[in-house]
Amino acid sequence: MANNRVDAVVGDIIEAVRNVLDKHDVTFPEYRAAVAFLAQYNGAAPYEIPLGLDMFFNATIHDIEMKNRKGSVTALEGPYFRDEAPAVKDRLKVLEGKGEPMIIEGTITDLSGEPLDGAELWIWHSDPDGFYSGFVPYMPEADYYRGVLKTGPDGAYSVRTSVPAPYTIPHDGPSGALLEAMGRHPWRPAHIHFKVRHPKVLDHITQSYFQGGSYVDDDCVEGVRPDLIHTMDERDGVKVLHKDFVLDPA
Ligand SMILES: [Fe+2]
Repeated sequence: MANNRVDAVVGDIIEAVRNVLDKHDVTFPEYRAAVAFLAQYNGAAPYEIPLGLDMFFNATIHDIEMKNRKGSVTALEGPYFRDEAPAVKDRLKVLEGKGEPMIIEGTITDLSGEPLDGAELWIWHSDPDGFYSGFVPYMPEADYYRGVLKTGPDGAYSVRTSVPAPYTIPHDGPSGALLEAMGRHPWRPAHIHFKVRHPKVLDHITQSYFQGGSYVDDDCVEGVRPDLIHTMDERDGVKVLHKDFVLDPA
């Protein structure tokens, strides 16, 4: 069954690609090389196609989404979210004796500044070596550096964890080979992932980055936006990331 939306979008993609081929006088050998490159996704790891698209276009869809939102800036969810994260009150499980302690705190409100009581906030991030629990043998359960907490009537939250690290996206398949051929690297800046759900507001998915951190200006998936870069404070010798959420109505 024909779909006008598909026709409009794909038709424009085809037109845009034709213009690029023409602009660069792409030859038959180059065209065949591109087809052979795409064929490598057959038999590649199942995440390679989502990865290859997300690294160039996921952040763009967030930018488009923000045209219709007035609240806090959204950003990519990434592949390491786990819905069934451990319920936490004020701290995430961390690998003891590793990394630098950090507190993440803030408030969750609607656009008018009204605190959201009972908002669910998922927080997840890498360990101090850049790996996610549930994805490496030394953290087989998806429980370290993850949690979901619930706000009270004041909409506030505060959770203790440790500072994450930059990491590389998977780059041993065709998507990584493409980055390399383009002279790009596979690194992402250190970041914290957040997801907020509350019946009164639109689901909110975002990331926070650290001012001055490696790759903040050169994220391989081009996901950093100015509003998402935070300066860390320090309280009693512990780093503090202040992150407020102002959320659009559902
Ligand atoms: Fe991440």
